[in-house]
Amino acid sequence: MASVSEILETMDYGPAPEASGEVMKWLSARGAFGHFIGGRFTEPGPTFDVMNPATGELLAKVTQGTGSDVQAAVKAARAALPRWSKLSGHDRARYLYALARHIQKRERFLAVLETIDNGKPIRESRDIDVPLAARHFYHHAGWAEMLADEFPSQGPVGVCGQIIPWNFPLLMLAWKVAPALAAGNTVVLKPAEYTPLTALAFAEICAEVGLPKGVVNIVTGDGATGAALVEADVDKIAFTGSTEVGRAIRKVTAGSGKKLTLELGGKSPFIVFADADIDAAVEGVVDAIWFNQGQVCCAGSRILVQERVARDFAERLARRMARLRVGDPLDKSTDMGAIVDPVQLRRIRDLVAQGEAEGAVLHQAPCQLPATGNYFAPGFFTEVAPANIVSEVEIFGPVATLTTFRTPDEAVALANNTRYGLAASVWSENVNLALDVAAQVKAGVVWVNATNIFDAGAGFGGYRESGFGREGGREGMEEYLAEPPVPAKAEPVPIAPETAPTPEAPAAADAIDRTAKLYIGGAQKRPDSGYSYAVRGKAGVIGLAGLGSRKDIRNAVEAAHKASGWGRATGHNRAQVLYYLAENLVSREAEFANRLKSAGSPKPAEEVATAIRRAFWYAAQADKYDGAVHATKSAHVTLAMPEPFGVMGIACPTSAPLLGLLSLVLPAIAMGNRVVALPSQNMPLSATDLYQVFDTSDLPGGVVNIVTGARDELARTLAAHDDIAAMWYCGSTEGARMVETESAGNLKATWTVRNRDWLGAEGQGRSFLKHATQIKNIWVPYGE
Ligand code: NAI
Repeated sequence: MASVSEILETMDYGPAPEASGEVMKWLSARGAFGHFIGGRFTEPGPTFDVMNPATGELLAKVTQGTGSDVQAAVKAARAALPRWSKLSGHDRARYLYALARHIQKRERFLAVLETIDNGKPIRESRDIDVPLAARHFYHHAGWAEMLADEFPSQGPVGVCGQIIPWNFPLLMLAWKVAPALAAGNTVVLKPAEYTPLTALAFAEICAEVGLPKGVVNIVTGDGATGAALVEADVDKIAFTGSTEVGRAIRKVTAGSGKKLTLELGGKSPFIVFADADIDAAVEGVVDAIWFNQGQVCCAGSRILVQERVARDFAERLARRMARLRVGDPLDKSTDMGAIVDPVQLRRIRDLVAQGEAEGAVLHQAPCQLPATGNYFAPGFFTEVAPANIVSEVEIFGPVATLTTFRTPDEAVALANNTRYGLAASVWSENVNLALDVAAQVKAGVVWVNATNIFDAGAGFGGYRESGFGREGGREGMEEYLAEPPVPAKAEPVPIAPETAPTPEAPAAADAIDRTAKLYIGGAQKRPDSGYSYAVRGKAGVIGLAGLGSRKDIRNAVEAAHKASGWGRATGHNRAQVLYYLAENLVSREAEFANRLKSAGSPKPAEEVATAIRRAFWYAAQADKYDGAVHATKSAHVTLAMPEPFGVMGIACPTSAPLLGLLSLVLPAIAMGNRVVALPSQNMPLSATDLYQVFDTSDLPGGVVNIVTGARDELARTLAAHDDIAAMWYCGSTEGARMVETESAGNLKATWTVRNRDWLGAEGQGRSFLKHATQIKNIWVPYGE
């Protein structure tokens, strides 16, 4: 007689379809959809078809938004902004609660609508997408309530343009709309062209709860509509989608002053150590790469398994994969539904075929796929060469790669061998090992013994080419709040006109010796060009400075990379070095003041005194600016840890040549970054005088590198450099545009630092430390 477990093992599931009658009735009653602008639906214009990816049937006709539709929506959002932003946090919170409750009331309707529009299994839309969307509105109702207490002196950014993808249509809407509204912004949202229907249903909910007109506007359309929104008169763009489009948006918004957050693609590692609970890890893969048909930006698409368990792991994985039920997404027992669109299906097929052609071996579930609809059987590759296209490119479908490693170091190296840095998953029963690896992986989210868990209370977002900015929790709120305004300056900040440095030939040997050199890797270096330039003060030429070039920048970046130990030093160790640096500045206070005086600084003594106090302050912060433990799911602690970027480029202010430089370099290194700093072009000599201070302060070589010369030209090279992870620029609007445009290559985080009274309180603060770090959220489980 068969045992119960054998019976369960062999038993098949009968169909259990969720009813879609209500949703179909709603769709046919609406006919064609217009946009939702200023609190009402517009008449439909020229439309495009929205199809059910599981059946190929037409679901609705939806308007293709034009430039003038976008403008009308932005106008409505702008008109609604003053009243909405002036409501008390409590009043805004009540609208957010109402939205949350109405989403909950319609949970079944929205889940079915999402499933027929996107193709995802009803189990996922019902248990994950829709409840989490409601949770986001509840959570952010709370932030609205507490806004004045938690974010004093900060206000909304203004009108936010939000562009979302098709993989989690309603959930991505919630991630974007809830924090924006809580902070007092108004929005124009463009859903993805494949999946606009739940956004249109949400528009009806907005009208139903009486949300003031124009606070939420929804314009449907394709990439052209999105591009029009990016160029429109908005104050912020929040984008989730492909890295390619994210990069284009970075370039278009460069220099516009629009705040930008980008949540882009990934090729996230899923690391399994030999001591992991292997069955749990196999189940983890199901959630990592077969969840939502693999159309997940943080999908664990690169499975890395420790060599000695790899064969066993692959066999168990293949057995588990064979049991996945692929088919009708409305069926409650379906594990994997349909791919969102024939275009995406073709893309997956092409990439998988190319992966096979390049020698990888595909293991695919032997399932019977439905005759119609966009289906792709789940699979994974083995024997994948590192150069194989499927090792590098995001497939965005239900296919992972499986490769092996021997040691933890090798696992970390492989995990980080990607342009992306969105998420990672680490499986081991050894907490020391798991957390050690979590700390070393370059990713914005790390799950320990888990994968793809999300909560409104934790930040989500990437490192590197996975974008910048966070969504969720306190970190996400900050993306929708403007920085406190820099107070009007009591007196104009003196900015010396930046004249192009004229190269002086390296004449007599003694002249070269009097020339301030560059500071690279802890040593004074002659510029590669061999040239220097004259530095003028009040009474004519006061010295010569090295004329740095691209080659010097490259050397400086390399030296900074070599100094990686600084990032691993404890905050206490860094604090000691900074205190020592402050003391050494004290002992040379008069000398620095004299130098500043001869350079024409209006308040030399005050500038040096403030620089010294600032060095003490950042020394104090080095072991105090820390993270948080977020309250998220049960049986988890979510550690939000601020991490240094790595190597940063800093173009320092022209004014306050000593204080301006230290005001930016100190917070950056206090947090563990190494920097390549470009001092004031016209007054570089107080920066070059710092070399000796650095040398006598035990600052490891390479932590601070200084390259003098044509500042903006050097900044261009830094901004375009792939090994620079973040770039701060203080200078002209044109310069900021240049830096932001050049930064699009590796999508480095940039910060345009407004020039300010560096002597004043606004020259220092926690916001500098915030910009010097990126948050990694590590999900640590507890309990059985
Ligand atoms: P996409 O990046 O083109 O689309 C995402 C959103 O951006 C959609 O709303 C689209 O209409 C809009 N958009 C497109 N071009 C735009 C432009 N120039 N300016 C402003 N908005 C624009 O992604 P697509 O083409 O649908 O998918 C292609 C690949 O992108 C996928 O195979 C996948 O690899 C990746 N992807 C990643 C997502 C993520 O969550 N990180 C989500 C969707 C796609």
